[in-house]
Amino acid sequence: MPWKDAAGRFSWFKLLVFLGLFLPAAWLLLRGFAGDLGGRPVTELLRRCGDWTVRFLLLTLAVSPARAVWDWPGVVQLRRMLGVATGCYALAHVSLYLAQQNFSLVFVAGEIVKRFYLTIGFTTLCGLTTLLITSTDGWQRRLRGGWKKLHRLIFPLAVLALIHYFLQSKIDVTNAVFAAGVFAWLGCWRLLPRRLQAQPLLFAALAVAAALATVGIETLWYALATGVPAMRVLAANLQVTPWPRPAAWIGALFLAVALIGTTRRWRRRPRRAAALA
Ligand code: HEM
Repeated sequence: MPWKDAAGRFSWFKLLVFLGLFLPAAWLLLRGFAGDLGGRPVTELLRRCGDWTVRFLLLTLAVSPARAVWDWPGVVQLRRMLGVATGCYALAHVSLYLAQQNFSLVFVAGEIVKRFYLTIGFTTLCGLTTLLITSTDGWQRRLRGGWKKLHRLIFPLAVLALIHYFLQSKIDVTNAVFAAGVFAWLGCWRLLPRRLQAQPLLFAALAVAAALATVGIETLWYALATGVPAMRVLAANLQVTPWPRPAAWIGALFLAVALIGTTRRWRRRPRRAAALA
């Protein structure tokens, strides 16, 4: 049961997070019933479900860093729930695409074969569905050591999801760039040797590295996809009006993550010292 902890006890924390996973879907349905989804409601639902799939995917990947950086072991119990939510939102996203195409499976299959961005989306979906099915305790026991290897596929799947996101975002890739920036931070953190993954000073350096990586990704995307000169994108990244570019938000977000991590560790030090004495 998603509201029970590892020892089988009822957990308010897990229950609240579990209910929270339904909020985006509930909000979208409410907007749908209120007629607030614009002229093409199914397309709007399709897009928003896609956005939430990527968000939950990134949150699933963020569990291990949250445990190390924030010294928060309890967060691990949320990983499976977040992973299952990712798979469910992905399935809803594709079901909406089927609905948009009047459930014409032959047409949809043809589009997936013909269009590169849909082929990538389909590959990601197959991977996420495999992880969703094998997320149970039974599959974990059956696959033994292979289970961990299989579930590491989440990293290449996240890269594919981000490519699909960029290709589907058309002109404005701001949200896709932001998601890629979060992934860049998560990737940099993973590349650190294990003993350094909980070093407060490094968190701030990682925030700067992720912000720079975000600028690089944005510049590269605009250069390759639209031919916009790199200098223009770099110049836009130095401006704060009318709105800072995603790299600035990434830097601010992960500096905040670093600050919270450092504060939590600093506050816990006397308790640890007392426990050891
Ligand atoms: C068979 C698999 C898939 C198909 C056929 C598909 C189809 C589509 C289509 C048609 C759109 C564009 C909607 C529009 O702007 O008119 C779209 C957008 C998107 N898809 Fe998928 N998709 C698939 C899988 C996935 C998966 C697995 C993910 C996430 C892991 C995903 C994430 C997104 C995102 C983030 C967008 C952009 C939403 C936005 O504009 O903000 N898709 N997809």
